[in-house]
Amino acid sequence: MSGIISPSILSADYTNLERDVKLVEAAGAEYLHIDVMDGSFVPAISYGPNWVKQLRPETDLVLDVHLMVVNPERFVDEFADAGADIIGVHVEATAHIHRALQMIKNKGVKAEVVINPGTPVSAIESVLDMVDQVLVMTVNPGFGGQKFLPSTIEKIAQLKVFRDARGLDFDIEIDGGVNNETISAAYEAGANVFVAGSYVYDKVDPAAKIAILKELTK
Ligand code: DX5
Ligand code: ZN
Repeated sequence: MSGIISPSILSADYTNLERDVKLVEAAGAEYLHIDVMDGSFVPAISYGPNWVKQLRPETDLVLDVHLMVVNPERFVDEFADAGADIIGVHVEATAHIHRALQMIKNKGVKAEVVINPGTPVSAIESVLDMVDQVLVMTVNPGFGGQKFLPSTIEKIAQLKVFRDARGLDFDIEIDGGVNNETISAAYEAGANVFVAGSYVYDKVDPAAKIAILKELTK
């Protein structure tokens, strides 16, 4: 099975959102990555649960919601009710990561824990048995179009070793700077879900870009 591609809507054309969502869906992307930013955990502000609610009936893509907000547990129920399929919470954003993940699971939504480039895998080891997905940030969160940080590859490999040793089955997602030049090293290290924003949506032909990323992760 090839890698799962999760195009980041952050880089789409907001005046043609419906077109940009349908386009990646038709091109074989499985997920749609939704970056929620609060202007506090990260400098930028993006969109909230009402936006996700409106998007939900427009697509069959798995809605992969990445919460870059302080104390994400405040918003878990709202995003779940809006139709999120996966909700990711940063370990750096809450004093209660276990509670935040439990809240996501209680809503019947897939639970994801996220780590910044500066956060070691050891910071999330104690919750790895309760997550469906781990997101390793491969840039510092906040903006699209940044450069992939190769130092994060080692953490992907560590997560794979930990998962296999414990008989766990979480997916390993990466986010930030993913393109045709950076995806292979992450795939070889063990990542299987790939967020890509500017590479897919900037310039020309998102469908061709998705095909390239799929080909490189077979
Ligand atoms: C960064 C976001 C990413 C962003 C990725 O804070 O979490 O999802 O959209 O964009 P690219 O692929 O352009 O690095
Ligand atoms: Zn993201």
